[in-house]
Amino acid sequence: MELHFTIAAPGKTRTDVLVMFAHKDPRQIRKVQSELRTIAGDAFLRIVEAGDFTGNDKELALVHTRKNHPSKRLLVVGLGERRSVNLERLRRAAAAAAKEARRLKAKDVTFVLPETRESAEETSIALYEGALLSLYRFEKYKQAKNGAESPVTNIHIVSPSPGDRSAGERARDHASHILAGTVLARDLANGPGNEIYPETLALAAQECGARNGFSVTVRDEHDIAELGMGGVLAVARGSDRKPRFIIMEFGPKSTPPVVLVGKGVTFDTGGISIKPSAGMAEMKMDMSGAAAVIGTFEAVSRLKLPVHIVGLIPAVENMPGSKAMRPGDIVRHYNGKTSEVDNTDAEGRLILADALAYAAEFKPAAVIDLATLTGAVVVALGHVATGMMGNDRELMNRLTKAGEKTFERVWELPLFDEYERLIRSDVADVKNVGGRWAGPITAGWFLKKHIGEYRWVHLDIAGTAILEENGDYTQRGSSGVGVRLLTEFLRRWK
Ligand code: BES
Ligand code: MN
Ligand code: ZN
Repeated sequence: MELHFTIAAPGKTRTDVLVMFAHKDPRQIRKVQSELRTIAGDAFLRIVEAGDFTGNDKELALVHTRKNHPSKRLLVVGLGERRSVNLERLRRAAAAAAKEARRLKAKDVTFVLPETRESAEETSIALYEGALLSLYRFEKYKQAKNGAESPVTNIHIVSPSPGDRSAGERARDHASHILAGTVLARDLANGPGNEIYPETLALAAQECGARNGFSVTVRDEHDIAELGMGGVLAVARGSDRKPRFIIMEFGPKSTPPVVLVGKGVTFDTGGISIKPSAGMAEMKMDMSGAAAVIGTFEAVSRLKLPVHIVGLIPAVENMPGSKAMRPGDIVRHYNGKTSEVDNTDAEGRLILADALAYAAEFKPAAVIDLATLTGAVVVALGHVATGMMGNDRELMNRLTKAGEKTFERVWELPLFDEYERLIRSDVADVKNVGGRWAGPITAGWFLKKHIGEYRWVHLDIAGTAILEENGDYTQRGSSGVGVRLLTEFLRRWK
């Protein structure tokens, strides 16, 4: 998919589907009508007169152009009330238009840049995001691809005002980079467990580094043992796939880094505390935190953001093999603390404990971990918001802002002291499960027990990374959540 920005009169544009936006506002609809008169005669006027288009949110009107016009058809897309138009509305409207363009077998879709309360740059980014992400499909393994004979291959934005050129071109480049990161995260997370396992996940990180000129170090099972990462080793033991510990680094080493930690469980059977078989397949996406970190590195390095970031990914497969860890086992982490394994299905926190302890070595300015950590966060927040916990208000505020901007929203859950006793162990420093109640919080508390002296936020993306249904610009499966959120956060860092 290619993104383009051009200064041109919409009436002179040659494209398969020309998209124009209209607010729910009779005056503005009349304006569109008069603009369309030379292109399409009174075709749109008739549609409006019939009451078939009022400018409602995501409403579509397909209009055929006059003979000899360079574009065959026009799509007028409603944006709803002018005062409620925001970036998310624009994404969704662009998504609706792009999917209609695909249905019409268009190769090129061209948006006429609408006037909004947002800048031309932000408006354009939102349109590119909505359009491109809505057309995403994971079809690498399909022989007969869904509509492959006619995929949309070019997304254009045109504006008649030469003053929009630099904003539009910046938007095009910015969007292409963050979307490359998001698509990479989706592809990795959607990838099946027989293809994406610790070694291949590490290869993907290395390829990302080679492509974009940053360093990636992969520690193998021997290194991990030498480092004393007992959590990673314990979880990996039930599988024939060997664990990997992936270290990515981008940007100026002279400043303290932001460390991004991603849970990389390439498949989670639950281990000896095995999961029920129904729905287990979606546990191929239990490395969505890792995918978000790799995707963020793709985006940030392509954008050349002036930030120093380190990515840490403990990568394991959680299987119930004969060497698997058992309930009751005690493991010693990188920081010397011990965990009692009460449930082998609470494996994510065991590997994250090592990675979070290791993060302290970098004397970080901040540490953010992303993990599909608990089913309970899906019970609490559904697929709408990411659960957020942490020890630093300012950091959480920054993530909240970035979440509102990108619509990858986060919602705080409390790490009150009273929850801590739920993970006390009789035999070790901490126990890896906290019982029936407050699942996301006891998981967060477990992580808090292992962090170093740094500012930290934990994002439980179990609900937002793994989707059961299609959305406006997301599909059943992986959402790639975290890439746009973290990239926006890092864009505003310092
Ligand atoms: N990977 C799962 C969490 C998960 C569940 C992610 C559903 C996405 C959708 C995690 O490793 C897990 O199994 N958590 C347990 C924790 C429990 C044993 C305390 C859970 O949520 O049941
Ligand atoms: Mn599990
Ligand atoms: Zn898991």
